[in-house]
Amino acid sequence: IPTKIYANSDEASRSVALEIASIIRQKAGEGKPAVLGLATGSSPKKVYKELIRMHKEEGLSFQNVVTYNLDEYYPMEPDAVQSYVRFMREQLFDHVDIPSGNWHLPDGTLPLEKVADFCHDYEEQIERYGGLDFQLLGIGRNGHIGFNEPGSLVNSKTRLMTLDLTTRIDAAGDFGGLAKVSKKAITMGINKIMEAKRVILLAWGEHKAENVARAVEGSVSADVPASYLQHHTNAAFVLDNSAASQLT
Ligand code: F6R
Repeated sequence: IPTKIYANSDEASRSVALEIASIIRQKAGEGKPAVLGLATGSSPKKVYKELIRMHKEEGLSFQNVVTYNLDEYYPMEPDAVQSYVRFMREQLFDHVDIPSGNWHLPDGTLPLEKVADFCHDYEEQIERYGGLDFQLLGIGRNGHIGFNEPGSLVNSKTRLMTLDLTTRIDAAGDFGGLAKVSKKAITMGINKIMEAKRVILLAWGEHKAENVARAVEGSVSADVPASYLQHHTNAAFVLDNSAASQLT
């Protein structure tokens, strides 16, 4: 997997925002939607901040942008503080001109018996657009992408996933204690991520270094779902110096 290493996450995020903006503008020029797969968490925040700045200061329009987020906790109300719907509205959607029907996240409010159909439809919608033009990812402490925890297969579909203990521990701060963290989440599968035309994984900081090295240089394995990206023909890891520090 090609790696792009920057002095800091600000510079790195700016370059990723520029790439996303150029896809949006190119598609707009063709009169087509730009179909983006988006992530939550701390890693993409500066990318979204830069996209908002480009919207406000440089006229970057999101009128032709359609988005599908990777994941949402289950169950989860959209206005809860831990909700990824809320996160995306606060970090991006409410600050740009994306039409309200154009952004999508897995629905954490569904009754259990409706989740499978929802997941199937989520993928069908993406397919009707001809797939994702771009997928943004972070990497979890256990090597997960989206909430595809270790053990997830390369052909896994969008589905309800039981969260790993490490993932729940990392989310404990947001939920006010481990006991309150959702035990499940709906996640886009590895399959749709691998079908995206371009994939960028972001990682900042020392604490990501070991997993980044395992994903980039280790064997491709379900033990480290991010390692599947070694088999993607147009994926890159965008790193700061610390996250790259364990690469050989
Ligand atoms: C979030 C997601 C997760 C995070 C990962 C890293 O939508 O899919 O895989 O990207 O857990 O989280 P941060 O960026 O908070 O370190």
